[in-house]
Amino acid sequence: MAGHLAIRGEDWAKDGRPQTRPRGIIDGPNYPKSLEGPKYVGRRGLPSACQGVFMKDRVNVLCIGAGYVGGPTMAVIADRCPHVTVNVVDINAARIQAWQTDDLPIFEPGLLEVVKRARGRNLFFSTDIEAGIAAADIIFVSVNTPTKTFGEGAGRAADLQYWEKTARQILACSTNSKIVVEKSTLPVRTAEAMDRILNSNTRGLRFEVLSNPEFLAEGTAVKDLELPDRVLIGSHETPEGIRARKAVADIYATWVARERIIESSLWSAELSKLVANAFLAQRISSINAISALCELTEADVDEVAFAIGSDSRIGPRFLKASVGFGGSCFKKDILNLVYIAQSHGLDEVARYWEAVVRMNEWQETRFVRRMLAAMFNTVAGKKIAIFGFAFKAETGDTRESPALEVTKQLAAEHAHVVITDPKALDNARIDTAGLEGTIAFTPDPYEAARGAHAIAVLTEWNLYRDLDWARLLASMERPAFVFDGRNILDHHRLFDLGFNVFAIGKRPLRHV
Ligand code: NAD
Ligand code: UGA
Repeated sequence: MAGHLAIRGEDWAKDGRPQTRPRGIIDGPNYPKSLEGPKYVGRRGLPSACQGVFMKDRVNVLCIGAGYVGGPTMAVIADRCPHVTVNVVDINAARIQAWQTDDLPIFEPGLLEVVKRARGRNLFFSTDIEAGIAAADIIFVSVNTPTKTFGEGAGRAADLQYWEKTARQILACSTNSKIVVEKSTLPVRTAEAMDRILNSNTRGLRFEVLSNPEFLAEGTAVKDLELPDRVLIGSHETPEGIRARKAVADIYATWVARERIIESSLWSAELSKLVANAFLAQRISSINAISALCELTEADVDEVAFAIGSDSRIGPRFLKASVGFGGSCFKKDILNLVYIAQSHGLDEVARYWEAVVRMNEWQETRFVRRMLAAMFNTVAGKKIAIFGFAFKAETGDTRESPALEVTKQLAAEHAHVVITDPKALDNARIDTAGLEGTIAFTPDPYEAARGAHAIAVLTEWNLYRDLDWARLLASMERPAFVFDGRNILDHHRLFDLGFNVFAIGKRPLRHV
């Protein structure tokens, strides 16, 4: 352990486990004074598997990609691991600049507090990707991996051109061996390509590629990161691979219980991420399929979901019928799974999973058709207020939001759409470019509803539950309609006030 400043050899048993850690702290001379002392008593010291992996006193982590995953994930690592220096880099200078202010580039409950605790201490944001790579021991790659829009696999396969460029950039800027961690969601066996590119060098550098997919959900990212159901780390099943994955596992073990850290093969880790999203989305499409049946049979989808979810084998979560699932990942990842299955000649498997996406698209269209049918088969010239544009509550993210599809379809029917949302109006404006003239925006739901024929609730923001619905009704055209695409409102109360109420998977409550 000569030259290893991180951990005193005598403190460590032969198996690499700590014997005693009186201050839970490391004692290399380069360790910043500000991090020493009782403040960190009880925290575990530098990762045990880092012994021999990094012959220095601090682990230097780099994250390439400062988005919804890179930003929060690295902020929590830095917050929980003062012994780790975390640099986050991105090609998007505006995004990096925003991470350096208190006006973060993404809205996520609790995130600003976490960032503020670590920023400038051991959490840094920069556009200097080359310097970041050169200094790093561990590189998390968290760039976006969109669906391919051209050529072979267009519309389904992952577009890996940026991924490959990142791998080449890591290679070009590296002067020492590193652990490279796939944080982005990728097709199974992507690590093989990354491994080949990185280890094609003739400079004697060795790169160990790991897969550590992220399972956080937007709106609850901080909670999900601080108390994850599990952390998954895959590696090659070689001594070097296993040692590298233990080094990364030890970083998480600073705050995550060991039994929640799952180690696996690279391929299992990569595939598990796609499959987790596919299973989650499948539950939503399953209950949404049943919602259509409920509307025709007078069964109530919330009652059905409760009844089936009470079976512990099924469980209650992710059974909320809705206008459809959105978000940047479910559709992308399922189509990716579909493409992989097709590439292996598994057409039945591909068709099975593709149906989850098709059902979702059908649900969005069905929602608009129901609006049309209820409103006397025309919405042309009618004002319709869209309550919520984010793909879910507690985020400003609108990627793949069902609200966009509903808006487009209503605009195509010549409705005058007014969109309101507490966090997502900037993104909504960008998403609806080209629809100017038929669309308006306001942060005030009362203004959105004034003179409207209908309100469609498309995001489950709590504030919509608590509005003065009598006041809203008083300002609207009659007959007034509410279409609850999230089943969050008190439908019978709204009906009693005078609204015609259409909820997902429920019998309509109508006066006309
Ligand atoms: P994002 O678009 O918010 O962020 C990606 C960032 O990477 C962007 O800021 C972009 O500028 C940057 N980037 C792209 N190419 C780069 C390069 N060559 N060098 C430096 N920076 C580069 O995406 P995201 O939502 O954070 O998702 C990232 C990955 O994580 C995706 O694979 C996604 O499927 C996966 N994921 C996302 C979530 C989520 O909730 N959003 C959850 C789990 C997993
Ligand atoms: C989802 C997964 O939950 C995360 O585990 C995963 O890491 C992430 O995708 C990813 O890979 O990007 P996210 O999309 O942020 O997270 O949010 P979810 O809570 O999963 O909601 C997705 C969509 O499904 C939203 O539009 C939500 O409103 C909808 N939904 C969710 C329903 O319609 N019904 C439900 O019961 C649950």
